[in-house]
Order: sequence, then C-alpha cells, then structure tokens
Amino acid sequence: MSIKEEVQKRKTFAIISHPDAGKTTLTERLLLVGNLIRSAGTVKGKKSGKFATSDWMEIEKQRGISVTSSVMNFQYGDLQVNILDTPGHEDFSEDTYRTLTAVDSVVMIIDSTKGIEPQTIKLFKVCRMRGIPIFTFINKLDREGKEPFALLEEIEEVLDIETYPMNWPAGMGKRFLGIFDRHEKQFIKFNGNEEETYIPNHELMNPEYEELISSPIYQASREEVALLDEAGDEFNLDAVMAGEQTPVFFGSALAPFGVNLFFDTFISMAPAPQPRKSTEGLVQPDHPDFSGFIFKIQANMNPAHRDRIAFIRVCSGKFERGMSVKLSRTGKVFKLSQSQQIIASTRETVDEAYAGDIIGIYDPNAYQIGDTLIEGKANFDYDELPQFPAELYKKVMAKNVLKSKQFRKGIEQLVQEGAIQLFRDKHTESYILGAVGELQYEVFKYRMENEYNVDIMFETIGERIPRWLNPEQKINESLFDERKLLVRDREGNYLVLFQNEFALNWFKQNNEDVELIDLFETN
Ligand code: G4P
Repeated sequence: MSIKEEVQKRKTFAIISHPDAGKTTLTERLLLVGNLIRSAGTVKGKKSGKFATSDWMEIEKQRGISVTSSVMNFQYGDLQVNILDTPGHEDFSEDTYRTLTAVDSVVMIIDSTKGIEPQTIKLFKVCRMRGIPIFTFINKLDREGKEPFALLEEIEEVLDIETYPMNWPAGMGKRFLGIFDRHEKQFIKFNGNEEETYIPNHELMNPEYEELISSPIYQASREEVALLDEAGDEFNLDAVMAGEQTPVFFGSALAPFGVNLFFDTFISMAPAPQPRKSTEGLVQPDHPDFSGFIFKIQANMNPAHRDRIAFIRVCSGKFERGMSVKLSRTGKVFKLSQSQQIIASTRETVDEAYAGDIIGIYDPNAYQIGDTLIEGKANFDYDELPQFPAELYKKVMAKNVLKSKQFRKGIEQLVQEGAIQLFRDKHTESYILGAVGELQYEVFKYRMENEYNVDIMFETIGERIPRWLNPEQKINESLFDERKLLVRDREGNYLVLFQNEFALNWFKQNNEDVELIDLFETN
C-alpha cells in the first residue's frame, strides 16, 4: 500500500468532556466496536475498583508515579482508528491540552442533564485555537435532561459555534423512543435494551409501527425535525472542517443507544491527517520523508527502568523502527530503535507508522516538548505548541539549601522539557511554578526527588488569573502586591497574577492606562 493510501485510512481523534459526562463509558463502547475489549464493564466501574483501559495510568499513579495520555487504536473496516485519551478529573494538566495538538478531530461529549460545563469550555477553546473539526455527542438521553433545542442554543451561545443536529431525539428519560437520523433518513427505535431497530423513513407507515408514530412524543419530535429541515442551518462540511459548525448527535453511551450510528457517521466524516504547518510551509502527510513532532514526554513510566518516553505525532512519510532521524532544534541525528505504541496498559513494539499515528520513542534525555524530528535533508520546525496559561500557582523551594545547585538544575530541565511553567517573583526572585492542574505538581515533586535527588517544598499561592503587561509600557511597581503579584516569565516578560476576577476588574477600572494582555485569547 502506498503512503498516500495508508494516510487516507487514518482517523486520529480525541474525546473531550467535563468529568462525568461519559467519556470513559463512550470510549469503552468504541473499544467494543473495535473489538479491543470483549465486554462492557471490563474496563469500567469505579465502584468495582476496575479501571477503564483509557484510565490505566491511574493505576500507575497509585503506585506513586505520573500519568500519561494513552493511545488506543483499532482497525474499523478499512480504517485505522487512533483515539487519544485526554485525562480529566484531577489528572488535568498541560498534557491534556497538548494532546489536542496531535489529533485531526475531536468528539465533544455533553451531558444532556447538565449542558456545557467548565472543563468542556477550556478544552473547546484549545480546539478552536487550532481550528480542528469538532463533533458533538449529547449523552445520557436515557435520563431526563435539558430540551434538545435549549442544548443547541447553549452550545451556540456559550461556545460560539454553529450547530447542525445530525439526528434528533424523540423523548428522553423514561419516555425515550429513539432518534431520527436526518442524515440517512431513518428512525432508530429504542427497545429498552442494546437492540436498536433501524427503520427507513418510507417504512414507518407500515402497520407494525402505528403505535410508535401515533404517540404524541413521536409526533412532537417529528414536527421539530420538520422545523429543523425548513428553518434550521444547512449542513456545511467545509464549515465543519474549519471548526465553525459542529455536527450534533444525541444518544446514550450507557444504554447504549445511538452510539453505532454516531460512530459510523463521525468516522466517515472525520478528516484523515491533513498537511501541517511548518517553518518551511505546509508539509504533506504523504510526503515520502518521515517527520513528526513531540507533544508529550513521559518520564518514569516504568519505575524499574526509569525511562523516558517521547510521544511523537507522525506528520509525514513512513516511520520504520531503526531509522535515523534528525532533531531539527540541534541538527543531531538519532537512531530510533526503541519505538513503542503505547496502547493502554501494554506497550507493543512498532515497526512502522504513518501520518496520524502516535508512537512512543525512548528519550535519551535529548528531546523537548515541541521538538521536530525529520528524515532526510530537509530542515524545518513544526509550528510551536501553544502555551497554556497556568491557573494554579505555587512557590517552590529546596528543603535543604545546600542542594540549591541540583534544585536549579532540576527546575531548569523540567521546565525546558515542558513539564511545568516557571516564573520569578519581581521583588524576591523566588521561584513560582504554574500549572493547569494539581497533578503537574505531584509529578514535578516526584521527579525532583527521583531524578535530581532534591526534596522540595511548596507554598501555595492558589488559583490566579495571569495577564501580561504590554512590554512597551513602563512598569509602576507600586501598583502591585500579593493580590496582584508581579512576576517575570522565562523570556523575561512581565505579567501579573491576579487573585480573582474581582481583583482583575478592580485593577482595570483603576488603572486604565495599563495595558493587560490575555495570551490565551489572542493566541
Ligand atoms: P467520565 O469518563 O467523563 O468522567 O464519565 P464516565 O464515563 O465515568 O461516566 C460518569 C457517570 O455517568 C458514570 O456513572 C456512568 O455510568 C454514567 N453515564 C455515562 N453515560 C451515561 C448515559 O448515557 N446514561 C446514564 N444514565 N449514565 C451515564 P457513575 O455512577 O459515576 O459510575 P459507575 O459507578 O456507574 O461506573
């Protein structure tokens, strides 16, 4: 098979959601579809103490080490499906965001009983920044939730994206009858179990469905569909591909209902790997030379080996185990002999991979997050990974001052690797760390102790809202204090860590001449 054909087969995506919306349950369903697991419930069940395949690093964490995004892949018909896990809950970290730079599309799950929740908004923003296609699965239709129209309106208003319902529910909770498939013009009847009945629209008149179609719930829903057909937005594939319109599916991951329909439609529409921006212009995924970028570095995945694995998103060409590649940042050549695909709790050796695939390679302490690896003569860098403003801040210091040299070395290396962000207090010069989640601190502490032999202490600063100061402006230091802490980032730029929205707004009102920049908004 040619490189082009291999690339066209690949669908690489992530599932994003707020905790408890049903990501684990849906992932499990998809793994069942892909025959990767044998029965539902083998991977799920927080109560039973079992873990989802996608949550396997939780187990590692309990052993005292850190967390990774795992990659699950399976063959589906002719397609090669790659699902990247985006850890949520207390595992939320910059890695979660960075994973979204390595996928070609995203499935956003929304809990129909809750609507849009905070973590969904954060993850959505990152997808929006990258303009990747977003498919929405509104989950838990087997429960009484918000009205479908209200949910669509909420998505449009809160996330500022056009919606196009691919299917439409008839009822919900105990009155749930099934869904209208607008795409394939059929009704999928819910039978209260895993059996779904697919009824083409023209067969709905058959006498056996009389009870169904004469029910008021069915009829009300049928009218809503007619309204959508007449007055709703048109489906626009170009807008979907640009991340401006989201196809919306309704269903229940648990029942399960509508999952197969969703997955078949999604996977047929989801884009294969696209050309990717680099400093030398667009790189085609079927270009014969291998290239890729590192979006994550996982240290100590296996405490017995103390190894580091760099996760690469393959962007072009063919990866072959043992091949030599150049690290564009330094020009140094590495032989990639130890390559692994990190599939849930097992590591399988990978012999070849193509654009869209994720591989883990052994990191001889040479790589950084964002690094580009290239085969052949060309030299370029893939677009820098965006920086994600930290939300949680802590002062950090070595317990033993005599260890300050190792302390500085450890911080310097871990920060450079992208594990955590570093700031310095303008007045005291003390080290301040920033992260998007608590887990990053745990991992940082663990690695400082184990890799650099330094015990550290944290002093909590708490959640803060970062705003950069316009570098052109002169800084009046007397304006700042603990509640609006003036710090420098690694490039020497000044920013202010505001204690809360109130402190930020108060500052803005009283210092209109000070220009504050929100990097997250403008990125
Ligand atoms: P997450 O990974 O996004 O955090 O969500 P997860 O799949 O773990 O689902 C969170 C809870 O919601 C689970 O219940 C799960 O069973 C339930 N759930 C998921 N999809 C559906 C659905 O379509 N309908 C209904 N009614 N519930 C759904 P739990 O009680 O917290 O967990 P468990 O103890 O049952 O495993």
